[in-house]
Amino acid sequence: MTQEVKKGSPAIYGKVTPPAMEKGKVTYCTDLDKSVIRASCERRGWTQVGIDDEWNFYWSYTQNCRNLFSIESGYRMNDNQLINHFPNHYELSRKDLLVKNIKRYRRELERDGNPLAEKADVVLPNGQIGTRYLHLDFIPVTYVLPADYNMFVEEYRKSPQSTWIMKPCGKSQGAGIFLINKLSKVKKWSRDAKTAFHPQLSNKESYVISRYIDNPLLIGGKKFDLRLYVLVTSYRPLKAYLFQHGFCRFCTVKYDTSVAELDNMYVHLTNVSVQKHGGDYNSLHGGKMSIQNFRLYLEGTKGRSVTDKLFAEVQWLIVHSLKAVAPVIANDRHCFECYGYDIIIDNNLKPWLVEVNASPSLQSTTHNDRILKYKLIDNIVSIVLPPDGIPDARWNKIPNEEALGDFDILIDEELIDREDTNSRYNKLHRAKT
Ligand SMILES: Nc1ncnc2c1ncn2[C@@H]1O[C@H](COP(=O)(O)OP(=O)(O)O)[C@@H](O)[C@H]1O
Ligand SMILES: [Mg+2]
Repeated sequence: MTQEVKKGSPAIYGKVTPPAMEKGKVTYCTDLDKSVIRASCERRGWTQVGIDDEWNFYWSYTQNCRNLFSIESGYRMNDNQLINHFPNHYELSRKDLLVKNIKRYRRELERDGNPLAEKADVVLPNGQIGTRYLHLDFIPVTYVLPADYNMFVEEYRKSPQSTWIMKPCGKSQGAGIFLINKLSKVKKWSRDAKTAFHPQLSNKESYVISRYIDNPLLIGGKKFDLRLYVLVTSYRPLKAYLFQHGFCRFCTVKYDTSVAELDNMYVHLTNVSVQKHGGDYNSLHGGKMSIQNFRLYLEGTKGRSVTDKLFAEVQWLIVHSLKAVAPVIANDRHCFECYGYDIIIDNNLKPWLVEVNASPSLQSTTHNDRILKYKLIDNIVSIVLPPDGIPDARWNKIPNEEALGDFDILIDEELIDREDTNSRYNKLHRAKT
């Protein structure tokens, strides 16, 4: 198929509504050289163009998306353009900002007397009484270092036996992460960090320190976490979808909390990027188990109702993490985003949100993985496109049932509102007749 693309056209678009497009003329570009993206776009008859050409659909790196939206770029998107990130996605996907936003969200709900922010007393390991949120306690206690060092020390002293995990805010794939069980180690780290980095750079080099979930649910004696995919097409109103084919990512080495294994990342970090370097890595299943099999396993070992409760709680925490950032995200109508949620389940079957990735890996480690990721991308594209298949930022973003593919609606505040209005209308109507 041939495609006319205006080369060298200025990268500034006016507000003028573009003329109606033909389906066969849709163009896409991608920063990721991934066959899953190309396959999905080509199946739709779209033509690949370069980033400086006129594209309608752009699967970009986060950084390139941010650049595009920066004031300096002077770029103005037209109605026929869609891009796969929100400009300030980092409010959700950076480890320190996620925590900051969730803390703020809880404080605001509490201030408004919202029952969601209800608290309860708990007995701390040192025998003192502390308070915890009853419903919104879904992230491990976390501080940003070096900024919150004093607050961390205060918390540390309440349970000096605890293990903590240090994670660099700006890194991913398990890079730079280590566990600590002594305050002296954090002190040493702070000293080294101060000498290693110029103080003004300290923000860039900041870390989060989180309570280590040391009682994870184990299967076959091994730690795992859940990787779930969540598509957001709008933050205000919030519209989010959960992909049915998440999976568990397993460690290759049996879980062991002994101090001797504290530095053994094959025991503690579930990242595939870490585990695949281990001697026990199995490239056939890639250390992954589908969420469906996990559900069957849980129903069989723990029972149906606790399993249902766990899955409902997982959905709950995803929705509230999104609500926590909704007020601060630049809700540009050209944007959508697919997040990779990392969730750990402890042995009381309580899910904990560990982090949210704005560029979850599209790397396929196994055959099943390839199928899953193809479906993921293909379903995403179907959801973000209006029924006529032509990108249009003016569309109301209410996909029909068929377009959802293997995604389920997590929340659509617009639909909730409509249903509310409908039911109110129905009540009124019934009362009148
Ligand atoms: N608080 C925690 N308790 C237990 N394990 C954790 C905790 N935080 C992270 N991990 C483990 O470390 C892995 C990497 O941490 P994560 O925050 O996802 O950083 P990264 O960006 O490097 O993937 C997680 O997938 C999980 O296995
Ligand atoms: Mg992670």
